[in-house]
Amino acid sequence: MKPEVLQLSPILIPQIRERLEQLFVMRPYYQQADKAAYLKEHGANIRGVVTGGHTGITREVLAQLPRVEVVAVNGVGTDAVDLAYCRDLGIRVTATIGALTDDVADLAIGLLIAACRGLCTGDRYVRTGQWQHSPTPLAPLPLARQFSGMRIGIVGLGRVGRAVATRAAAFGCPISYTDLQAIDGVDYRYVADLTELARDSDALILAAAADGGKAIVDAGVLEALGAEGYLVNVARGKLVNEDDLVAALEAGRIAGAALDVFVDEPRVPEVLFGNEQVVLQPHRASATVQTRTRMGEMVIASLVDTFAGRKPAGCVTG
Ligand code: 8YV
Repeated sequence: MKPEVLQLSPILIPQIRERLEQLFVMRPYYQQADKAAYLKEHGANIRGVVTGGHTGITREVLAQLPRVEVVAVNGVGTDAVDLAYCRDLGIRVTATIGALTDDVADLAIGLLIAACRGLCTGDRYVRTGQWQHSPTPLAPLPLARQFSGMRIGIVGLGRVGRAVATRAAAFGCPISYTDLQAIDGVDYRYVADLTELARDSDALILAAAADGGKAIVDAGVLEALGAEGYLVNVARGKLVNEDDLVAALEAGRIAGAALDVFVDEPRVPEVLFGNEQVVLQPHRASATVQTRTRMGEMVIASLVDTFAGRKPAGCVTG
């Protein structure tokens, strides 16, 4: 009998989907119109869960899976899973640790360059024919902000934060960071206080875990970042007070923002749609074929190992 696995979010790589189907009886919960009825029918037989980092799984759903042994997160963030509850019940939670570091860091730098150099604005300017029809072609577009040499403040110097730092350093950017404490063996300047880091930075890049669930970037931090400062978020929307961010952008209290993540995805504050100082992405930092393939392989390994009685790699519940 193949183990039954509840799937809470789609897997976009066909070979990974096929492999999952070969090894397990996949139960595509995310596709069901009547989720309660589906759980009633299959919940008792489910031994594994596959979910996304942002999607996670609620306690209410977990409570209806009495035989569940593992929650395999197809992502690195486990903030949407109640880890304490899983530990208490002996449910293993795994994440695809290390698989998406480069992609997320690449996108962070790409987003910052896009925001400060106005890449999306320039693209729209060409596409809409404005360049062709303007008598003084470059006049309507404001000059951009140089990226090389920007003072970068990294919030959270974990794997992704360090990969961002390495990339930014190659552009001649001085790097400072904040974290729960200074990290041994790291040469970048440590600043304990986030507001102070914002004050000393031309761009703040959020790469922190969001397990605390707290909005650490608020009006005060944005005020300190200042009218010349940029905010980049490739971590979690909930790290930022979105109302404060929207207000700061609308009032020009910061220069711009580049956002891959939002508080209530896929909902994005509509007022941002018309704001040329903002670059928006639909939570795609890890969305490359190469990385999603690696992540999928790790998810499969987590399930296989658990069902074979082995401790899976990437287990965050001990
Ligand atoms: C993924 C993520 O988009 O790794 C995470 O925590 O949020 C993202 O990389 C998501 O998990 C894909 O399922």
